[in-house]
Amino acid sequence: MIEKVVAKLAGVSKYYGTGEGRITALDRVDFEVNKGDFVVLAGLSGSGKSTMLHLLGCIDKQDEGESYIDGIDTTRMSLEQLAPVRLEKIGFVFQSFNLVPVLTAFENVELPLLFKGIDKNTIKSRVNDILHELGLQERMHHFPREMSGGQQQRVAIARALVTNPILILADEPTANLDSKTGADIVNLLIELNQKKNITVVLASHDSVVLDRIKHIVNIRDGKINSHS
Ligand SMILES: Nc1ncnc2c1ncn2[C@@H]1O[C@H](COP(=O)(O)OP(=O)(O)O)[C@@H](O)[C@H]1O
Ligand SMILES: [Mg+2]
Repeated sequence: MIEKVVAKLAGVSKYYGTGEGRITALDRVDFEVNKGDFVVLAGLSGSGKSTMLHLLGCIDKQDEGESYIDGIDTTRMSLEQLAPVRLEKIGFVFQSFNLVPVLTAFENVELPLLFKGIDKNTIKSRVNDILHELGLQERMHHFPREMSGGQQQRVAIARALVTNPILILADEPTANLDSKTGADIVNLLIELNQKKNITVVLASHDSVVLDRIKHIVNIRDGKINSHS
């Protein structure tokens, strides 16, 4: 069955800590993203953007409320039970790229496919294809330290895409890049969204992002304020 809603949070709250020191990171949030959407979560530092991405991406659990991914009710599933769902359906892109420093570009992109237990020949052709598609063929056998920030983020995007996920979650992917390189990365994500109908939720307060994306969800103190 093809689901229109790729991911959904309903009445979701998330707290950190206990007692008087308890922080409400998300306060009864309702959010859904449809197939093919490109949504930006905008808000100041500490507003709850990363927490929301972690819940959408099944790498953390809410304290209250319901969560769904691709029609699966994940509300009562443990993080351990969610591991295969995550691997199959989600691709993450981070601010600091999070590449493994001792692995080449090729080896970094290959990793999620090795976890999935896919055969060597299929892996080789899929990693080759995606690195070519993202213009990284010359950098395939380079280590992260031998690449620019923009190239490293492209490798991270290739790693996120190589499993054909239904949802790409990007947490401030331009924050460690200069504005020109940041714009290139946003344009690449827009192109992937438009050409391949890949659904993207991106957290950012960078004007390089906000100037380019129409669908913005504003979050403040753990609450969704307004949509555009
Ligand atoms: N692991 C954590 N432990 C305690 N507090 C946290 C943790 N992660 C986030 N917070 C707090 O939760 C709130 C939301 O954080 P976060 O989702 O990281 O916001 P953003 O990504 O918008 O900067 C902030 O007040 C932050 O300090
Ligand atoms: Mg954050």
